[in-house]
Amino acid sequence: MKVMILGGDGFIGSHLRDAHIKRDDSVVVVDECDLRSKKCDSYKFHKFDISINMTALDDLIYLFKPDIAYNCVAIANPGFYTYNPIDTFNIDFDLNYNIIRELSGRNIPFVHFSTSEVYGRKQLTDNYNEETSDLILGPSHKLRWIYATSKILLEQLILANFNKSKTDCIIVRPFNFIGHDIDWIPAYHGQKEWIPRVYSCFMNSLLDKIDLQVVSPGTQQRCYTYIDDAIEALLSIIDNWNKCKGKVINIGAPQNEIEILELAKLMISLMNEIREEKYNHQISLIDGTKLYGDGYDDSQRRVPDVSLINQLTGWKAKTELRDMFKQSMIKTINSFI
Ligand code: UGA
Repeated sequence: MKVMILGGDGFIGSHLRDAHIKRDDSVVVVDECDLRSKKCDSYKFHKFDISINMTALDDLIYLFKPDIAYNCVAIANPGFYTYNPIDTFNIDFDLNYNIIRELSGRNIPFVHFSTSEVYGRKQLTDNYNEETSDLILGPSHKLRWIYATSKILLEQLILANFNKSKTDCIIVRPFNFIGHDIDWIPAYHGQKEWIPRVYSCFMNSLLDKIDLQVVSPGTQQRCYTYIDDAIEALLSIIDNWNKCKGKVINIGAPQNEIEILELAKLMISLMNEIREEKYNHQISLIDGTKLYGDGYDDSQRRVPDVSLINQLTGWKAKTELRDMFKQSMIKTINSFI
């Protein structure tokens, strides 16, 4: 199979690339960054910025003629949404809309990455369901929601286009995929004007032996999905293409729910276990707007209903919370040795 991965140098895209190479697929990756794109004969890496060179993408699609494309182009970092909401819109909506139009125009079946964030701020009812849950965002002056807003609008345009043009597409909503290389670790890879996601913030503090900062109240919850399970889910969707096309599909692990304060404690205990020490790491509570800026608002709870993917493909996440964090932390530590 010929697979094109747009944004294939990112966290999810680079793991997808490796999984498809393992299956002996012919893989082409496009990204403006090459942090995770080691030189490798099995795939072709094209480094360019699609936002300023859509013609290069068009040429590549014409020459490679992919059987499917993954659109992983995104900024998926709350630290960035509040730091630069306009570029969040430019990348997560505007650029993505152009990419979708290009893929549909060439009739390339594609998987588009949306986000669990579209479900918003408050979970009022049962686990989030793709077809029945309301999407409840926070107030508009809380600019964090510009990401979810962009993603929701794009989902609707993709679905409208699917009904009209019949280009096959599948929209996936990842629920907090986690792995050792999710983001940069500031003290080791350099500071940016915005902060990475929570795993990398906590790892940074653990490695540097400084306080882990938990955004108050600390009872906000997330359900984590190990990246290896997530990639299996995506491959199961590709393998069941006809059943899945035209659908919006949650990928997540409802059984792996944890409060963020508890996650900080878990990572402290795992760090001591891994390093065979009993260091007394400290936790401090911090207001979200102090850490991220005024535009910050938080999702309090986000539990996916995964019955749809299970029914369509038989997939279910296997890795439990403690294992996925331990494996991720060991790999992060080893990457510095
Ligand atoms: C983010 C993105 O917005 C989603 O689109 C994406 O799908 C998701 O990550 C993901 O990784 O899949 P979120 O879960 O809010 O959503 O991202 P994190 O930055 O990892 O925050 C998780 C929680 O940890 C939040 O409550 C945040 O306030 C808290 N946090 C973050 C801390 O307590 N301390 C920190 O140093 C950083």
